Amino acid sequence: MLVVAVPKGRVLGALATLLGKAGIDAAPLLAEGRALVREAGGLRFLLVKPDDVPTYVEYGAADLGVCGRDVLEERDADLYRPLDLGIGRCRLVVAAPRDAAAVAVPRVATKYPRTAARHFARRGVQAEIVLVQGSVELAPVTGLADVIVDLVETGSTLVENGLVERETVADVTSVLVANRASYKLRHDDVRRLIDTVRRANP
Ligand code: PRP
Repeated sequence: MLVVAVPKGRVLGALATLLGKAGIDAAPLLAEGRALVREAGGLRFLLVKPDDVPTYVEYGAADLGVCGRDVLEERDADLYRPLDLGIGRCRLVVAAPRDAAAVAVPRVATKYPRTAARHFARRGVQAEIVLVQGSVELAPVTGLADVIVDLVETGSTLVENGLVERETVADVTSVLVANRASYKLRHDDVRRLIDTVRRANP
């Protein structure tokens, strides 16, 4: 049985819908309960934190995974990325309080320290990166940071916290990733799954 690491949280519903279109009944993925291993459509799914998907796949605890491009960029994971799933669409942006003046060396709060550092370095801007794990929009409101680098989907979290988008860092979607050894050793099974999902999501 192929093992697929999937992210708990926002993307899981969209993933279940996509798998359903591909003829894989993914209802067990959305069922109540604390079980972290769920079997559906002849696959074994591991429900993990989104940031941990590359780890499970890279070490071979899962053959495949579903992972945001934001996480892949931050982790520099050594994985095959055979298919963009087109779900979990959002953007990684730089945002700041509406009326804030530009700062020479901005302090940047983010869950994505490496991606943020790379972004500012590319633009020739010296920046101080502060790692936070969530509620990132709070950082500029409280003076912890001047700006944030964070995900925007609907934009309501920015608006409700008086922030505006300043720059786009990256467009994000969820991608199917594959362990390099599984991709070679279980090629037929992996290919079959990729083709099934691709047909459902042209
Ligand atoms: C994510 C992200 C933003 C928010 C964006 O946070 O970090 O805060 O969603 O969504 P929106 O543009 O639709 O408002 P999440 O809800 O995952 O929680 P977190 O703050 O704990 O990271």
